[in-house]
Amino acid sequence: MGANKFLFGKGDNQVFLLPAMANRHGLVAGATGTGKTISLKVLAEAFSDMGVPVFLADVKGDLSGLCEEGEKKEKLNERARIVGITSLDYKKYPVTFWDVYGEKGIPVRTTLSEMGPLLLSRLLNLNETQEGVLSIVFKAADEKGMLLLDLMDLRAMLKYVGENADEFTLHYGNVSSQSIGAIQRALLLIEDQGADKFFSEPALDINDFFQLSADNRGMINILAADRLFNSPLLYSTFLLWMLSELYENLPEVGDLEKPKFVFFFDEAHLLFKDANSYLLTKIEQVVRLVRSKGVGIYFITQNPSDIPDTVLGQLGNKIQHALRAFTPKDQKAVKSAAESFRANDSFDTYEAITSLAVGEALVSFLDEEGRPSVVEKAFVRPPNSYMGIIPDMVLYKNIEASSFHKKYKDEIDRISAYELLTQKLEASTKNSDNDVKQKAFIEKATHPKTKPARTTDSAFEKMAKSAMTSAGREIGRAVMRGLLGSLRK
Ligand SMILES: Nc1ncnc2c1ncn2[C@@H]1O[C@H](COP(=O)(O)OP(=O)(O)OP(=O)(O)O)[C@@H](O)[C@H]1O
Ligand SMILES: [Mg+2]
Repeated sequence: MGANKFLFGKGDNQVFLLPAMANRHGLVAGATGTGKTISLKVLAEAFSDMGVPVFLADVKGDLSGLCEEGEKKEKLNERARIVGITSLDYKKYPVTFWDVYGEKGIPVRTTLSEMGPLLLSRLLNLNETQEGVLSIVFKAADEKGMLLLDLMDLRAMLKYVGENADEFTLHYGNVSSQSIGAIQRALLLIEDQGADKFFSEPALDINDFFQLSADNRGMINILAADRLFNSPLLYSTFLLWMLSELYENLPEVGDLEKPKFVFFFDEAHLLFKDANSYLLTKIEQVVRLVRSKGVGIYFITQNPSDIPDTVLGQLGNKIQHALRAFTPKDQKAVKSAAESFRANDSFDTYEAITSLAVGEALVSFLDEEGRPSVVEKAFVRPPNSYMGIIPDMVLYKNIEASSFHKKYKDEIDRISAYELLTQKLEASTKNSDNDVKQKAFIEKATHPKTKPARTTDSAFEKMAKSAMTSAGREIGRAVMRGLLGSLRK
């Protein structure tokens, strides 16, 4: 099914986003209050209408209106007419709300082993030595059949490795008690940020983001990020994890008529803040590679200079709202933003950036050949959905009506490293009869199909299913690890 080119706005000429070029990524930049969020909404609506599901992180809580019909206003009709839309199609969009904290959306969770030691090290802000120790802990857990699902598991495993440091050092390399201690302290910090809610089960199946509505529109997945945003490290690691999940789960595809999925990365500067060169290389690489999987990534940030050049250079579709040029530093940033566009003879790009009105932008999308088009100064079309914030009641109704509510609402806690190690400790203080029982217990617990359930029947079913999918995913994860590993040296 092809998709029509999308009318984004108009100045001297109309500007169109080409669906076939939408996986070549994009940028929405501009000073505060200049229209970035509305531009983002307009794009999200366009993709949904094309049948492309999207993901948005809602940092300010002002995206929820997408699930309600727009409020009819003469100002909006007027803007629509300027752009060349005779009658604005006020309508609501299919939206699923997600929330790491499970308050303003369906809970999003993952397990520690799904995230893996590399991203986790970034989340914990570990140095290289500590990261090495964490990798050893993961490896040891793997080999001993201990599942690392939640923070309790990791804590138990760290303690175990610490107490048997000599043995582990012999097998895997140096395990120092200082490093173990540092990781334990870092765990406490992220727990304070609510990471304990995030690391549990049932883990999010990223395929659940790929829903279509009954009328074949793409689902708009909105992640409540207002609270998450206050924990920048958790926020950026989480989004990075999602990107790698997408990367792992999708097959290579050639050029498509339209993207398979579009990911909007709001407050993108957070991703790059404090990132070391290894992580930057990784982000740059994932951004480059997801394109061939039909995933488009759109970065939203105040200033294009927030984004490293290696990533910026890959963003084909650009929307630049107004920037201020008060200080020499500002002026430099405006200059480099201006120079990133193909000049239009009818205006000066630098001048234009500093004088754009709210809801007006310099726009350059890729043409049929994948070349950046000459920059246009354009009024951005109004969105079809509601521009404000919806009342909590409407939000809760939407959450309860979602088919994923039942699947994810209750946390499950299956037998994993913590339970196994606690049992082991108890057993070691009792007699050898218990040793046999203990062995049987571990045997049972580490084989998912016969694993004893600590939860209700239906939860047990879910658990078994989840154990199988995580085994399947482990293969994909190994590919990712290989990819990351190959970057290391
Ligand atoms: N395309 C548009 N159509 C109609 N109104 C618009 C449009 N763009 C911007 N506006 C108006 O401008 C206001 C500010 O825009 P917006 O919230 O998108 O700014 P922003 O750049 O995201 O700001 P911040 O950095 O503070 O998040 C909107 O609430 C809306 O009233
Ligand atoms: Mg905004």
